[in-house]
Amino acid sequence: MRGLLPAAFVAASIAAVLGAGTTGAAPILGKGSVLPEGTELNEEALDQPNELFASELAGGKRSYLLNLGDLLFSSPEILGGLARQAGISCNTCHQQGHNNPRLYVPGLSTRPGTFDTTNKLFNPKSDNGVLDAVTPPSLRGARYLAPYGHDGRFASLRDFVRNVIVNEFAGPEPSGEILDALVTYIQEISFLPNPKLGADGRLTAQASAAARRGEALFAAPFRHDPAMSCASCHRPTGAFVDHQTHDVGSGGRFKTPTLVNANFNAPYFHDGRFDSYAQVVAYFDRHFDLGLDADQQRDLVAYLEAVGDAAEPVVRNTVQSTLDEIAAFVSVLDIAIPEHNREIVALTVDAVGNEWRELGENFPGRGDTSVNGGLSERLRAREAARGAVLALRRVAMAAAAEDFAAAAQAFADYRQHVASAAADLKQAEPWSLYNPAIRAAHFAAIRRLAELAK
Ligand code: HEC
Ligand code: HEC
Repeated sequence: MRGLLPAAFVAASIAAVLGAGTTGAAPILGKGSVLPEGTELNEEALDQPNELFASELAGGKRSYLLNLGDLLFSSPEILGGLARQAGISCNTCHQQGHNNPRLYVPGLSTRPGTFDTTNKLFNPKSDNGVLDAVTPPSLRGARYLAPYGHDGRFASLRDFVRNVIVNEFAGPEPSGEILDALVTYIQEISFLPNPKLGADGRLTAQASAAARRGEALFAAPFRHDPAMSCASCHRPTGAFVDHQTHDVGSGGRFKTPTLVNANFNAPYFHDGRFDSYAQVVAYFDRHFDLGLDADQQRDLVAYLEAVGDAAEPVVRNTVQSTLDEIAAFVSVLDIAIPEHNREIVALTVDAVGNEWRELGENFPGRGDTSVNGGLSERLRAREAARGAVLALRRVAMAAAAEDFAAAAQAFADYRQHVASAAADLKQAEPWSLYNPAIRAAHFAAIRRLAELAK
């Protein structure tokens, strides 16, 4: 546990200096504060991985279970003590259902983008005494990618998710509804559209000539083993996987990873040992003794880049996108309140309350000298966010007291508050951390203070 106190100290002093936060707790580095000093959770970026759901791509809408799963995925409450204290949720490592290439926890990561899920920090009971850090896989297309875990140890997604909650993060046994929701959510996360790849797994006319030469190489039999090719394991007609584990000389048997949208999945291999396709291709050339010359290797890389591409890999966070996400999460209450489902009301209020608090923290307060201008707008925005948290709390209190009529009324009041709050939030957006320049200045100031506090 060495190193924990200084981080907490730094967080507290920075919060004090900046005067940030509405509650007096240390919100800015709060998530890092119970984790080892030097922890990087990659929370600064304004651009987020794009997340598309199958039901919406098909022209439908998000179901209750999808919204519930999505909010639980961002909820530290379903995990155990330390993760909860640190504010860690599934979404910390699988940001927007994708991965987290910058994730680094000293002692639990071997390089950025890796994490040891069997460690004594999060659950002493499952600590295996080995630093075996692996990458959090992107969950895009997960429904096509069984078995689960790099070593494919779980055939069922449901079993995998339960194991994450109970064994890896020492959380309470999840209810059937919680598991259903998380599984529904994960199964809905789609591969991102890629105009270079057809539905049949073949390149389209939009791919380059080099990529098309690579496509032929990808399917060509290996010279020493004609039964094998890249495509014999990464099957183009089956999401580029074969649902098998193989020993490809990387230290054990691992499942064949998908190559769809994989441009955004680096670092590569289970332990993140390779940064680029060029390194992977050079490795396979040696490992399988393929005898590929430099041009052929480049063509294969061009092919991987075409298969791995996506039209819109990231989206910019805005006040509106945050409000949309909050609206999707909170819609769970439309079913949970009439159902008198106290557990789900409590979890929803908690998760959505956190979203509102984070939204509010995007508007620097009076003491934050890294932002000039718009002070009254910023203060009104903070007040609007705080009002939403309070309005939601009244929903939770009524539900906890089994007064669901009052909960329904409080929820209607919340919605009325949000309708007017939205205008205040948007008004202040230019002076908020949704403005990239202000965001950069703000985090630079925090880093300077963290340096000073050392
Ligand atoms: C601290 C980081 C971290 C957190 C938090 C986390 N995961 Fe993961 N996740 C990982 C890592 C690392 C792996 C790879 C583990 C392995 O191969 O054994 C993984 C693997 C997975 C997989 C398997 C994907 C595949 O294609 O094989 C699923 C599904 C998953 N996580 C879901 C979740 C859910 C649901 C939660 C929250 C309940 C969660 N994860 C929380 C790091 C994390
Ligand atoms: C015997 C099956 C097999 C063959 C043949 C094979 N691969 Fe793989 N491939 C794998 C496995 C298994 C991994 C993951 C290894 C690990 O995690 O340690 C992998 C990983 C990769 C990755 C990294 C993806 C990621 O997200 O980590 C790329 C890219 C890749 N292979 C491309 C190729 C290319 C190109 C060829 C042909 C030269 C090829 N593979 C041949 C099984 C295979």
